[in-house]
Amino acid sequence: MAVQLLEVKKMGKSMSLKMIVISFALMTMSGITMADQHRNYDSSMLDAGKQLFQAHCAVCHGVLAEGTVENWHLRDENGKFPPPPLNGTAHTWHHSVGSLFNTIKNGTISIGGNMPSWKDRLSDDEVFSVIIWLSSLWPEAIYQAWMERNNS
Ligand code: HEC
Repeated sequence: MAVQLLEVKKMGKSMSLKMIVISFALMTMSGITMADQHRNYDSSMLDAGKQLFQAHCAVCHGVLAEGTVENWHLRDENGKFPPPPLNGTAHTWHHSVGSLFNTIKNGTISIGGNMPSWKDRLSDDEVFSVIIWLSSLWPEAIYQAWMERNNS
């Protein structure tokens, strides 16, 4: 996974998932099964993602992205949704890499939500690292469903 994640950095958000998926195909063809390899993310990117998440996101989304409220479906008194868990138990995996990237960069305040924008605080690489770390937490079935959505 190290090589393809470097490619992700080089190619930018629109190509990222395609590269990952192509890499899976290559690994499968070369006899390494996806199950063995596909979560074998670049460890420096994972570490960076984890640290960035702890520093910037955990306050609202929980240290292990487990969420900080009892019911993330319930709007607050201002009609806004609380921060959902991002650990695979909510619906983060419904969104493509590109869409998660945009949500994190832009936040949701401009569209009536409560999530701050990270545009001026996190670089593209840093946002990708965080997404990679988050997806590393997801159970296998959720992760596979996310890959299929991203690839369709
Ligand atoms: C001040 C609290 C706060 C902080 C800090 C915060 N978020 Fe959020 N986040 C939210 C809220 C609230 C939502 C729900 C969307 C909305 O505003 O309606 C959300 C939604 C999201 C979503 C969409 C989840 C989904 O399932 O659709 C992602 C992804 C996300 N946040 C990632 C991050 C990341 C990564 C960071 C750190 C860089 C971060 N958030 C920091 C409050 C926060």
